[in-house]
Amino acid sequence: MDSLVIEGGNRLRGSIHINGSKNATLPIMAAALLADGPSLIKGAPHLADISSLINILLELGMTCERLPNGDLALEVTDTKPCHARYDLMRRMRAGICVLGPLLARRKYARVSMPGGCAIGDRPVDIHLRGLRALGAHVELEAGDIVVRADKLVGTEIFLGGNFGSTVTGTANVMSAATLAEGTTVIESAACEPEVVDLANYLNAMGAKITGAGSPRVIIEGVKALTGVPHTVIPDRIEAGTFMIAAAITNGEVQLDNCRFDHLMAAIDKLRSIGIIVERSGNGCTVASARRLEPTSITTQPHPGFPTDLQAQFMALLSLADGNSIITEKIYPDRFLHVAELARLGANLHKEGSTVVIARTKRLIGAPVMASDLRASAALVLAGMAASGTTTVMRVYHIDRGYEKIELRLNSLGAKIKRVDQKELEL
Ligand code: EPZ
Repeated sequence: MDSLVIEGGNRLRGSIHINGSKNATLPIMAAALLADGPSLIKGAPHLADISSLINILLELGMTCERLPNGDLALEVTDTKPCHARYDLMRRMRAGICVLGPLLARRKYARVSMPGGCAIGDRPVDIHLRGLRALGAHVELEAGDIVVRADKLVGTEIFLGGNFGSTVTGTANVMSAATLAEGTTVIESAACEPEVVDLANYLNAMGAKITGAGSPRVIIEGVKALTGVPHTVIPDRIEAGTFMIAAAITNGEVQLDNCRFDHLMAAIDKLRSIGIIVERSGNGCTVASARRLEPTSITTQPHPGFPTDLQAQFMALLSLADGNSIITEKIYPDRFLHVAELARLGANLHKEGSTVVIARTKRLIGAPVMASDLRASAALVLAGMAASGTTTVMRVYHIDRGYEKIELRLNSLGAKIKRVDQKELEL
């Protein structure tokens, strides 16, 4: 098992290319199950989560080939296998995105119910509510969700929940509705850019979807979809993470291939605390003003402040000149990074789903433990700002969502080594 050993105190400088979006690629790969003929996914990042989904799709009768230029060639060659097994699904929750496409194309699917997650309770009741509304019969058998339907029929579906809309739930229901009879109207659909990217891919294959990116999405069912080439959007959470990396190290970084319009809430907060963020070329530049103002943040569904940048921003605000407040509204328990950041000297007070971040003069390097993808990114950012050495353990979490993160940060001037944990005397 690998760890990252970080020598802190190095300012980041230079330019970085933002990779394709993990959270756009995953539902798009699953939606290729709907298609006749090959699809070519361009810009699909090289990540553990993508490989996990490839393993699931291979067992569902799809060929998946990573071409020398990095493109992902996907094609259904066998429509009989319909079981996404626990052993594969437990590695990656987003595997649930195969449920809607399998049901719509094969009228039957058996998908292991996703289990517990470090960031909190993550039920799929709304996904099932949507598929039932389209006419699916839904059962739970031995930990598997079993859905079947002779045919799917378009209807009006409300997909809102206690924490707002659901991103992969919208992906599942929207994908299934493309092959339903008649028209489906989804109310309270998720508005995330990843949902829009999926709708663009589905429409390019012959679907009739309007309103993606707004809470009201209309899908007119069609008979069939044909595979196409598609380039995924840049990863806005990776971009946000690199923006915060520049800010927390008092650096100056150019981000290439970054969609400014996908990150307005985060950019607004960076600017409000004194970070200079400007559009440039096909991305933006981020420069730190050395003195950080405090602020308050509440995570919300898009276009609000993304929960997937909450931990990284907490690391940054731990160095602000005053008290900040972060309230987590999407995953109220998403705070496993709090205790680890405190080990680096951050002054954090958690009350329910709110954390008060009091000013600390500086962070000091220490061994810390990653617990989930974005928490591990926050620990790496804090380690770069801390004096001395920080060792982040269990970095397999970070490899799920960031490609070769230490090499890319080192290309900007960081000093990070990946080592096998066994070599460490801690
Ligand atoms: C997507 O997860 C992302 N994952 C998550 O990113 C992200 O944190 C999340 O959206 C919110 O932005 C992918 O796209 C693969 P939700 P998803 O369904 O779709 C509740 C990362 O770090 N809910 O929008 O699983 C749920 O518990 C990952 O890359 C229900 O109650 O999230 C949560 O509180 C982590 N019932 C809220 O809704 C349901 O049926 C939003 O969840 C579904 C969701």
